[in-house]
Amino acid sequence: MNYRHGYHAGNFADVLKHTALCELLRLLLSKDKKLFVLDTHAGAGGYDLGGQLSVRTGEAAAGIVRLAAAPREGMPAAVARYLAAVAAYDRKFGPAGGGPRRYPGSPRLVRAALRPGDRFVACELHGEDALALKREFAGDRAVEVRQADGYKVLKAMLPPPERRGLVLIDPPFEVADEFERLARAVRQGLRRFATGCYAIWYPIKDEAAAAGFVAGLDAPKRLVLELRLGGEVGAGKLAACGLAVINPPWRFDEAMAEALPFIAGVLGGKAEMKA
Ligand SMILES: C[S@@+](CC[C@H](N)C(=O)[O-])C[C@H]1O[C@@H](n2cnc3c(N)ncnc32)[C@H](O)[C@@H]1O
Repeated sequence: MNYRHGYHAGNFADVLKHTALCELLRLLLSKDKKLFVLDTHAGAGGYDLGGQLSVRTGEAAAGIVRLAAAPREGMPAAVARYLAAVAAYDRKFGPAGGGPRRYPGSPRLVRAALRPGDRFVACELHGEDALALKREFAGDRAVEVRQADGYKVLKAMLPPPERRGLVLIDPPFEVADEFERLARAVRQGLRRFATGCYAIWYPIKDEAAAAGFVAGLDAPKRLVLELRLGGEVGAGKLAACGLAVINPPWRFDEAMAEALPFIAGVLGGKAEMKA
């Protein structure tokens, strides 16, 4: 396992995924019922955008850093809320400066949104990142960090007793059969917990492979969000990605229909939303 999310934190893929994640959490948590959240591939939790890994790729500059510098006037509410969540995490490390210096990974965004009584399990397999994640939430009883295979945990923990849940599946795509593994995990999840909300991130390095994956997702209620930057798909550097959301909450589509084109405009790309 070579993948480290620290190289990519705050890039355009995180911007898409995390804007949607914040909105999913907001809508799901607006109901007065307990929620279970499972992050199957959680990463390290939080990232230093001035750190070695991040500086080496500079990917955040074309993602969160650019978005955070966009004028607030006319900004869709979902984007403003995502930026507020990033800024709130960043402020823990000192007074606000010129753009974010620290970036919250999915576990931090989830944790910030949870209410007392909600439950959150975050899985991370990589030893160093699992340790960082454990440190990030040390003493926090609302978060259960497991150094474990998120696909196995998904199988073991669904359906949750709460009967309301959000499952984020965000694998690193280091192995050739990741699309197959992902599709299998989604099938297993839906078989156990058909009403759960699933947010599934995927890279678009090969248009046909990504389209085949999406077409194979056998779920009547779903929304697919895709973001393409200017670069050529398949030309080495990741230039496009998607997030498939199964059983999205009410009005998620409206929020994303506003947010996606705005994000694409600021980042210099194209967005697409389809059922
Ligand atoms: C794309 S990153 C996650 C980023 C995170 N979800 C976020 O949005 O901030 C994928 C992570 O999955 C971890 N990983 C790889 N295989 C795994 C598995 N089978 N189970 C759990 N974690 C895994 C990698 O070490 C990596 O940290």
